[in-house]
Amino acid sequence: MNEDQKHDREFMDTFMLILGFLIAFTFFIFVLANVISAKQDEVIQSNPKAQELKAERLMPIATAKMAKVIDPNAPVIEVVAAPINAQNIYDGACAACHTAGIAGAPKFGDVGAWADRITQGGETLYEHAIQGYQGEAGYMPAKGGRTDLSDEEVIAAVDYMVENSQ
Ligand code: HEC
Repeated sequence: MNEDQKHDREFMDTFMLILGFLIAFTFFIFVLANVISAKQDEVIQSNPKAQELKAERLMPIATAKMAKVIDPNAPVIEVVAAPINAQNIYDGACAACHTAGIAGAPKFGDVGAWADRITQGGETLYEHAIQGYQGEAGYMPAKGGRTDLSDEEVIAAVDYMVENSQ
């Protein structure tokens, strides 16, 4: 072995040592992270307050707030189903056309404009409101253009309009 080869050899040894150390260090960090995370879960599971906070964090904001409003002592983990509010749906999705009778829409509260429509029966009105339809007076867009509404919400809005227009 000449000087050069010896030098290379030494370099390689040091290099491998450092590499080995880095691998061991990475592994150590990995294990440490796992231990910390397991410990954290343990703390959360044994602490009802922490668990509540975690559930609250994971809950849609509106739901959590609503549960608090209804009953400040309500366990926030309970999910509150928002009741369908027909008037809100009408105001938000249907009023734009039906309050003033825009584009041939039968006006809210106009008994004459609704009488013949009501005789068609509820099912037809629901179907027309949900799927949309082209009538003689104009075009009623499916769900009033609010495709994010559920069928039940649209049905509630139809009932609300009909109840107030006969
Ligand atoms: C862009 C305007 C517009 C919006 C928004 C709108 N409508 Fe209409 N709607 C109409 C028009 C126009 C008609 C009349 C169509 C015809 O008979 O020619 C109509 C008719 C109707 C009818 C009568 C259907 C029939 O068979 O006679 C119902 C029920 C109805 N709309 C419900 C709703 C509901 C519920 C909403 C809200 C979710 C809504 N509409 C939103 C324009 C609208």
